[in-house]
Amino acid sequence: MLPVSTLRPVVAMMIALALPASAVPHPISNRATSEELSLNAKLQLADTAVERYQLLSKDEDFVFDFTSSKAPIASSENFHALTGVGASLSMGSLPACSMTFLHLHPRATELFALNSGHVLSEMVPETGPVDSEGNQRVIRAELGTGMMTVYPAGSFHTQVNPNCEPANFTAAFNSEEFAISLVAKQTFSLSDDVIARTFGESIAGEDIEKVRDAIPKDMVLKVEECLAKCEK
Ligand SMILES: *[C@@H]1O[C@H](CO)[C@@H](O)[C@H](O)[C@H]1NC(C)=O
Repeated sequence: MLPVSTLRPVVAMMIALALPASAVPHPISNRATSEELSLNAKLQLADTAVERYQLLSKDEDFVFDFTSSKAPIASSENFHALTGVGASLSMGSLPACSMTFLHLHPRATELFALNSGHVLSEMVPETGPVDSEGNQRVIRAELGTGMMTVYPAGSFHTQVNPNCEPANFTAAFNSEEFAISLVAKQTFSLSDDVIARTFGESIAGEDIEKVRDAIPKDMVLKVEECLAKCEK
């Protein structure tokens, strides 16, 4: 569920740089065949927005249907009309008694709004903001239907749905390729020495491996106490 493809822009860039300086500028659609470049790469290389409209010639190219999409995400990777627009959207449902894994978006600020249900949100903004006791500030928000919070780009955040009904949300991003970083998993992908030092030598050797293996792989986790309450 990571909508990232960092290689493509790099390849597109290399192809752009490889063009001979004397080349007569043709529309990008003629410059390379579809075998050579993906539609997204062509859109990214387009000289102008007008050229992008030519590449997206059908009106349907401008419609995205979340009800038939595999992922609850519309980004430039699966909705090409977003290329060059600088925005993307997610519309989904946080199941009853679930929590999104602690994550951040490396390139985008997120506006998270609830269409239905209830969500408890926690966000660690950045180093600097402190609470009244001088500790790292953590911003907690209790959201009901029709309410919204903001996660500035790079802030760590997680959401819990503590109820027995799903919480439906809409999340807007100010990047067409917002991407996700999973804080715990990525931290523990570092070498053991780095982890040991990072955690003040409180964890070492096999324990590091134990923690690494225990970190959930899913983006959405179950909250067991809540499930027990809802099954009653
Ligand atoms: C929440 O979303 C689910 C799945 O799309 C849908 O079935 C349900 O009706 C929605 N709930 C509300 C209250 O809108």
